[in-house]
Amino acid sequence: MAIEIDYARYDHVRPIHWTGEVLELLDQRVLPFRVEYLTCTSSDDVASAIHSLAVRGAPAIGIAAAWGVVLAARKMDARNGAEAALKLEPALQRLNASRPTAVNLAWALARMRRVLQQGGADWRRVLEAEADAIAVEDLAANRHMGALGAALIAPGSGVLTHCNTGSLATAGFGTALGVIRAGVAQHRIDRIFAGETRPWQQGARLTAWELQQDGIDATLIADSAAAHLMKTGAVQWVIVGADRICANGDTANKIGTYQLAIAARHHGVKFMVVAPASTVDMQMPSGELIEIEERDPAEMLGIGGVRVVAEGIDAWNPVFDVTPGDLIDAIVTERGVIQRPSPESMRAAFGS
Ligand code: MRU
Repeated sequence: MAIEIDYARYDHVRPIHWTGEVLELLDQRVLPFRVEYLTCTSSDDVASAIHSLAVRGAPAIGIAAAWGVVLAARKMDARNGAEAALKLEPALQRLNASRPTAVNLAWALARMRRVLQQGGADWRRVLEAEADAIAVEDLAANRHMGALGAALIAPGSGVLTHCNTGSLATAGFGTALGVIRAGVAQHRIDRIFAGETRPWQQGARLTAWELQQDGIDATLIADSAAAHLMKTGAVQWVIVGADRICANGDTANKIGTYQLAIAARHHGVKFMVVAPASTVDMQMPSGELIEIEERDPAEMLGIGGVRVVAEGIDAWNPVFDVTPGDLIDAIVTERGVIQRPSPESMRAAFGS
């Protein structure tokens, strides 16, 4: 029988806090040395926090955007939801444009649009209830995925994760990091390795800190050490999150994920993608069609604000890549586990 997970012990960090008046975001640009909250009072504050990565991670940006719509609604009047929907559309568009790759952003905004259209005179209350529901459902999905994913891992295993997919990237508990938390709680995982995740250092700055808050030991590696680590036999699973999963199982995630999947297959290490159903985009037939965000090359040229590259050097900074579905051993969502995803198994789980 699976061991019960003590959530209070294994999940302390919360990145998004709605006060009833304003949205407070744990500013991920300055972690781990400064724990500061950014206060957003308008939807444009939220759009800019998403764009600048103060809040980041696919589910978290969807949740933040939903609260952004609630903030936009505070600044305008309408007699019913349909009128409000029309007036709020420009704010929704600006939120949607803040980052292109994670489908959770458009998904959350579509949910907010839908309830607005159906809302009567109480449309403000309906909107706030929907933003809250998006966050509550995300936490529940993560806990469920944690149990489903951990059940795939044999006791005594080592795992490698990439980027930050934890409480910081979600409403709480995390996706891939949720599976790792559950695996630790159930004594299945003995060793955790986290890739530093150049250039923004989500693994080094965020994952290592977040796990430390919960008393979970992890060992940091340079991204370039991953294949060598796999060769030593220390890891049995690579466990990552996703920003968009296509109808054929192709998965966009943080840059570097694709090369981990290739190295994993070469070394006989299993590869698991963990994401809520809100990350699945059945309208996207395959990965080549996903828009890959490219960020300022300046992110490549320095570390912690200190320039390490000579003047006059060019850099290219795509921040996501696409792992083909056939390199993935398991996709875990709150709806269940899909082993070796294919268009057929994806359709069976998510419809068309
Ligand atoms: O650029 P980021 O930090 O937003 O990228 C985050 C990732 O790639 C995560 O792996 C993904 O969003 C899943 S988070 C649960």
